[in-house]
Amino acid sequence: MRKAVSMDSILVRGGKTLHGQIPIAGAKNACLTLMPATLLSDEPLTLTNAPRLSDIKTMTQLLGSLGAEVTSMQGGQVLAASCHGTINTRAEYDIVRKMRASNLVLGPLLAREGHAEVSLPGGCAIGARPMDIHTDGLTKMGAEIDLRDGYLHAKAIGGHLKGAVIDFPFASVGATENIMMAATLAKGTTVINNAAREPEIVDLATCLRAMGAQIDGDGTSRIEIQGVDRLHGATHRVVTDRIELGTYMLAPAIAGGEVELIGGRIDLLAAFCEKLDAAGISVTETENGLKVKHDTGRTKAVNVTTEPFPGFPTDLQAQMMALLCTATGTSVLEEKIFENRFMHAPELIRMGANIDVHGGTATVTGVDKLKGAQVMATDLRASVSLILAGLAASGETRVARVYHLDRGYEQVVSKFSGVGADIERITDS
Ligand code: EPZ
Repeated sequence: MRKAVSMDSILVRGGKTLHGQIPIAGAKNACLTLMPATLLSDEPLTLTNAPRLSDIKTMTQLLGSLGAEVTSMQGGQVLAASCHGTINTRAEYDIVRKMRASNLVLGPLLAREGHAEVSLPGGCAIGARPMDIHTDGLTKMGAEIDLRDGYLHAKAIGGHLKGAVIDFPFASVGATENIMMAATLAKGTTVINNAAREPEIVDLATCLRAMGAQIDGDGTSRIEIQGVDRLHGATHRVVTDRIELGTYMLAPAIAGGEVELIGGRIDLLAAFCEKLDAAGISVTETENGLKVKHDTGRTKAVNVTTEPFPGFPTDLQAQMMALLCTATGTSVLEEKIFENRFMHAPELIRMGANIDVHGGTATVTGVDKLKGAQVMATDLRASVSLILAGLAASGETRVARVYHLDRGYEQVVSKFSGVGADIERITDS
């Protein structure tokens, strides 16, 4: 009997200023691409600093269904993955539909076994999420891919992928990861032009090099991979989660106070920190990470456009909007990465925000204060932006459907309450 999705809510009573330290976990979006890398070798891959999240459990379940074993140790902070012998190359819809990152097994399966059947994830709340950039790139590397009954049926012609020069029309994060992993075992050299430059790409390349891969240029828009015959095991520490970091940096910015983010690194979020600075929020580096200090005066309006790294991250757009709801002046937010990523706006409007959404542009006119209300989480990042808004709103804010939160934020209630927020999780009756 499948466990019903919990419909827990989170209750926030606004008005507390925040003081103290918040530890930042390993990056969900790095871990979700590092875990499938275990398929590239029959030797063990150990990942440390892994985040404790439901998405990691879903990836563990998916890899298990393929015959790879992932053991979680030390309370989930260490993942020991291994994959011996022949494996099942079919990634079932029932798991893939729960998490789009499941599509990151396509490249590794093709590289290891020469064929794969991976369900298309289907759309999600924020957009259609197509995979054309992934499949066009793999086709250039000698894969035959056709879509049948909702599954991508992929086969490497001659049983082996070969190196190719691939020009991406858009710097897709997932496509860069899939192609990079596939190319490590291809025959010859692969070049990805217009590759994604996110820190999670650099983290994956670092791990693959530790496994014996030959990769150069990660972090730039041109990545070159020389295929090798085999990869060996490795131990790799997952990079800090820059999206969790940015999310918690906004807590003192919105509620006032002074919070130190343990493990925070300014190089992971330069564009985001520039916007905080323009809004009047001071960010300083400490020996343990980053410190954000803000007295309870109003912040200044700023304009934000989401872009591939090193631009402003789309995964922090909803959280930034929560800050700008009470800034002095009018802010314009342009969402350039996903086609439908303003679902937090109607919920913030229920709290008294003044937001006008037209297509990919949201215009936020600052109000003095938001008012607590019953609101609904719609996707992972929208849900946490509602909690952030509740920190400074008058009265109580109750965020429903917080299972979205559990996908990307570990121990969210204790991390907020640990710095003085009045917040609790209400288990559905
Ligand atoms: C990754 O998704 C992240 N997920 C997303 O984080 C993040 O928002 C996104 O990168 C952008 O930074 C993981 O890493 C697991 P893309 P991904 O391929 O790889 C279009 C979160 O909240 N596109 O860079 O799917 C696509 O539709 C999640 O943690 C194509 O058109 O992102 C989208 O509009 C949400 N064809 C845009 O590119 C393709 O073949 C960005 O997609 C692939 C993508």
